[in-house]
Amino acid sequence: MQHAAREGSGKSASKIVPCTPTESGVAFCVFLIYNDNCHFYMKSPSGRAIVSTLVNEPTYLLNREAYLSEEWFAREQRELFGRVWLFAGLESDLPHAGDYLTLQAGDTPLVVVRQKDGALAAFHNICRHRGARIVEGQGNVSSGLSCFYHRWHYNLDGSLRGLPQAEQFPSVEANKANFGLRRASVDSWNGMIFVNAEAEPEADLQTWLDRVPDLWGPLQPSTLFELPRREIEVQANWKLFIENHIDGYHLWHLHATSVRGLDHAQQRWDACGAHWMFYEPELVTGTMPDRLLSGLPMIDGVDETRYGSSVFMLFPNVGGAGGVTFFSIFTVEPLAAERTRVHFRTFIKPLTERDFIDDPELGVRLEASLSGSGDAKPLSDSASFEDRLAAVSQERDFIAEDKLAAEAIQAAERSRHFSVGPLARDFEASITFFQQSVLRHVPLESID
Ligand code: FES
Ligand SMILES: [Fe+2]
Repeated sequence: MQHAAREGSGKSASKIVPCTPTESGVAFCVFLIYNDNCHFYMKSPSGRAIVSTLVNEPTYLLNREAYLSEEWFAREQRELFGRVWLFAGLESDLPHAGDYLTLQAGDTPLVVVRQKDGALAAFHNICRHRGARIVEGQGNVSSGLSCFYHRWHYNLDGSLRGLPQAEQFPSVEANKANFGLRRASVDSWNGMIFVNAEAEPEADLQTWLDRVPDLWGPLQPSTLFELPRREIEVQANWKLFIENHIDGYHLWHLHATSVRGLDHAQQRWDACGAHWMFYEPELVTGTMPDRLLSGLPMIDGVDETRYGSSVFMLFPNVGGAGGVTFFSIFTVEPLAAERTRVHFRTFIKPLTERDFIDDPELGVRLEASLSGSGDAKPLSDSASFEDRLAAVSQERDFIAEDKLAAEAIQAAERSRHFSVGPLARDFEASITFFQQSVLRHVPLESID
């Protein structure tokens, strides 16, 4: 599917702004940008959406199977997540030789390892003996990767170093070079590591990211200070969490109290390849809503074109936002057709002693951010839905609000009477755009 023709005159007017401040401090926001050079699918607020070049009008293209069926889920894992570039972590997560992290790329477990020369390498995390997953989680293997099962041992570069009772394996002894770990692809941009399970991906990372780097702005997560990570489990298909993230319509309503100070009517988004970059300005120029609420220092390099909310979605499963005081990124990990884990990471400007001397209240506000950013404790599932919604709304926890929304749709999907009505012409056109990208990898017609 071709994207709409690029609009714009060649002027580059990237804008980014922070987005969704919370009362408690650092917000998780979406980072959105727009640029006159990129493909605009939506003109805001009164202009017509040009998404009509994609479809006649924004339409919900996926059926219930895509959200309920384990068969569809398996196809997605294999044909989508197993073949595209996925965000794996930050360069700064792996500072030393032997540092590694693991992730699942669709149907294939991967390991990314920092090499002795400082480069990164990625391998299928599958032992060449009987196929055990070799390492778990994140850590350091400076002496190489050793499989726990029968202790086949691999060098950092994936080559097979040795194996116990080698005389039992004459074919291996005769040709050790054939039994190294299988290569995956790894590359990085802006301090962010991306992997692809394929040794020879269809596109390199630069091509895959399209114009995202042009629109990204000054935020470099590797140079920032990371707040404690947050992880939630959502009883919904992974796509519902992404579709909610790029839905510009719910900002007024579901987040009526949690997302404030931003002019939703001025929202704009930009399609770059399969990725989505969004920006909405402040309601009152110059107010910098996230700084107003958190009181944290401004990140260097953020200018007045990014004082609102800059939100992004890197297809297929990454979202996030940037503001003047924070950068946030989340990864949506599909666990099963109706179960998803979301990993949130939030970054702020690294603080110095001088910052605390200059601003005696800073420590108090930082503590509030550390303990309060989106960690509302929703009532138990046994509480009524209205009570749970009221609880998260009172906490102004927009992540918890989004989780409730995704789960409410998922619960209804199980009904044979479920259907989706019309989408908002401008504010939900992004959902059609996202679903088109999914369908490119997992076409409807290939369902038996
Ligand atoms: S499965 Fe890894 S050494 Fe046997
Ligand atoms: Fe939301």
